[in-house]
This record gives sequence, structure tokens and C-alpha cells, in this order.
Amino acid sequence: MPQLIIGLLSGSTRSASMNCKLVAAMANVFTNAGVKAQIIDLNDYDMPLYNGDYEDEHGVPDATHRLIKTLLACDGVFIATPEYNGCMPPLLKNTIDWTSRVGLEQFARPVYGIGSASPGPLSGIMALRQLHFILARLGAHIVPTQLGVGSYGQAFDEDGQFADERTLGRATKLASQMLNTIDRS
Ligand SMILES: Cc1cc2nc3c(=O)[nH]c(=O)nc-3n(C[C@H](O)[C@H](O)[C@H](O)COP(=O)(O)O)c2cc1C
Repeated sequence: MPQLIIGLLSGSTRSASMNCKLVAAMANVFTNAGVKAQIIDLNDYDMPLYNGDYEDEHGVPDATHRLIKTLLACDGVFIATPEYNGCMPPLLKNTIDWTSRVGLEQFARPVYGIGSASPGPLSGIMALRQLHFILARLGAHIVPTQLGVGSYGQAFDEDGQFADERTLGRATKLASQMLNTIDRS
């Protein structure tokens, strides 16, 4: 049986992004579970802010088609979203919006898991709620466990792994739910 591939995508491309750190820590969890973890860096998929006139004139950006191909090659996708003023950031929304202009298979086919890292004690629970809504609306199967990592200064150890057992346990549960759902499909 071919090795499962899990794509991991951060909704922030900031060099010191905590959501990139969350993605890296989750990649370790998946690697330890024996599956291939593939980081999907949105720096490699630069897209202009969506505008209908732009689309009429230029069509859908090449980066959008490349990202869809990458997502379709994954059995599961984990997305970590920052929270900006209670919402998911424009980068992530814009990326999702562009891909939806082509089709929805990239949402329907892989199994999705979501998480968020933010400095506050509540993590990005409002952004998670939004991300869940839009993915479900586009036809994605999202596993029930979500990974909110708050007070992120203490969330990761020096090696970039989850620093506390509770967060690691939740991350492992989320990964298991994704892998079990993929196995069944
Ligand atoms: C415009 C803006 C709005 C923000 N609003 C929130 C917020 O509503 N809730 C929150 O927990 N953090 C908020 N933050 C703080 C971010 O969670 C923090 O900057 C985080 O590090 C961003 O994610 P990143 O490290 O992956 O880039 C906001 C940051 C910015 C720049």
C-alpha cells in the first residue's frame, strides 16, 4: 500500500510565524505515525488579491492551479490559521477563494484537520470557527478535534516539538482522527 501523504499548510508566511511552528510540530506527529508529512508553503503559491476583473483579464493564476494539484496529491491536509481581529487572515481566505474558482475537488478529496496558534490564552478559536465554516461549505470533511495552541510562548520546546503532554495528546488525537478517516475512505 502506498505511503499516505499529509500536507501541512500555515495561513501565515511570516518568517517567525507561530502557525508555521505549529505546522512543523504537527509534521513531526505525522512522521512519527509513519506517514509522509509535506509542508505546503504559501510563499511558493503567491496569488494577487482576488478581483473579478483581474480574473476576467488574466484568468486564474498559475499558482492556484499548482496549489490545487498539490492538495489533490495529499490524502489529508492540516491547516494552521492565525487569528486577525477574530477572523482568519486575508492570505488564507484569498488562497481558499482563488482555488474555489477552479473547482471544489481539492476540498472534497483529502481529509482536513485544523488548528491555530495565537499569543492569547484562548488560541485562535474564532478563526478556527471561520475556517471550519468555509471548509465545510466547500465540501470538506473536517475531523472533530481541533488544535488551539494559546499562550504560544510556552507551546513548543527548543526542538520545535509540542512542549506539554496535553497539547501533544490533542495533536496526536487529531492526527489519528485524520488517518483513521483516510483509511476508511
Ligand atoms: C491585524 C492583527 C489582528 C490580530 N488579532 C488577533 C485576534 O483577534 N486574536 C488573537 O488571538 N491574536 C490576534 N493577533 C495576534 C496574532 O495572533 C499574532 O500576531 C500571531 O503571532 C500571528 O500568527 P503568526 O505568528 O503565525 O504569524 C492579531 C495580529 C494582527 C497583525
